[in-house]
Amino acid sequence: MIDDLIQISKEAGSIVREGFKSNLSINYKTNESDLVTNIDTASEKLITEFIRKKYPSHGILAEEGGEIKKSSEYVWVVDPLDGTVNFAHGLPIFSVSIGLQKEGKTIAGVVYDVAQDIIYSTEMGSGAYADSTRIKVTENDNLKHSILVTGFPYNIRENPFNALEKFVALTKASRGMRRLGSASIDFCYVAKGIFDGFWEVYLHPWDICAGKLIVEEAGGIVTDFAGNLITIHSKQILASNGKIHNDMVEILKMS
Ligand code: IPD
Ligand code: CA
Ligand code: CA
Repeated sequence: MIDDLIQISKEAGSIVREGFKSNLSINYKTNESDLVTNIDTASEKLITEFIRKKYPSHGILAEEGGEIKKSSEYVWVVDPLDGTVNFAHGLPIFSVSIGLQKEGKTIAGVVYDVAQDIIYSTEMGSGAYADSTRIKVTENDNLKHSILVTGFPYNIRENPFNALEKFVALTKASRGMRRLGSASIDFCYVAKGIFDGFWEVYLHPWDICAGKLIVEEAGGIVTDFAGNLITIHSKQILASNGKIHNDMVEILKMS
């Protein structure tokens, strides 16, 4: 099924690429920072129609369309455009993210970085790839020499889990913090050895599913802020190369 994931991510990515800088129709979801465009919807329609046609018994959990529950052990977890605010403002950092779960475990995932035209892909137990090149997390074990990345949820005004205090503490403890605006790309950049760690609160299953397995298959680990193993439904994400993980947990605990 990995070939299908790659193919449909590329097709959805073409819709996203063609939609970039076009006249968008933009609507608000929970507030004026939480956007959905006609391109999010068009990309999701293409992906879900493909799944329904080829795998009619499979379940789907997709950001804009909600959940289609089926009795099948397979569920496709779909973010049709991850980085919508970037996309709507003309910043070329956004992706299509599709994960595939079997009996609640992610078995494959693809993140298509549309602007860079790079497919990040993984199958459980087979490593993680950027196109055909195997990728690995960094070897760095020193938090002071680390670059970290984060993002903020659309309810950041409520400062869930003291995310803003944690941002200050980890910024001071590391070489620097970045905020790219596409959680799936954040995961892939940890997997590729660009960032040493990624943390964020209140992500959704479609932001996490593919990216989490890509980091794990690249040799990294993904937990909550206490270092516990998590599912894609966790409201705390800490992904790292493994070597700076405990130091990040200590700072996340204190702040
Ligand atoms: C968002 C992005 C962003 C993250 C937000 C997500 P969306 O997804 O991944 O980086 O900080 O929490 O909701 O809404 O663009 O699909
Ligand atoms: Ca998203
Ligand atoms: Ca999205």
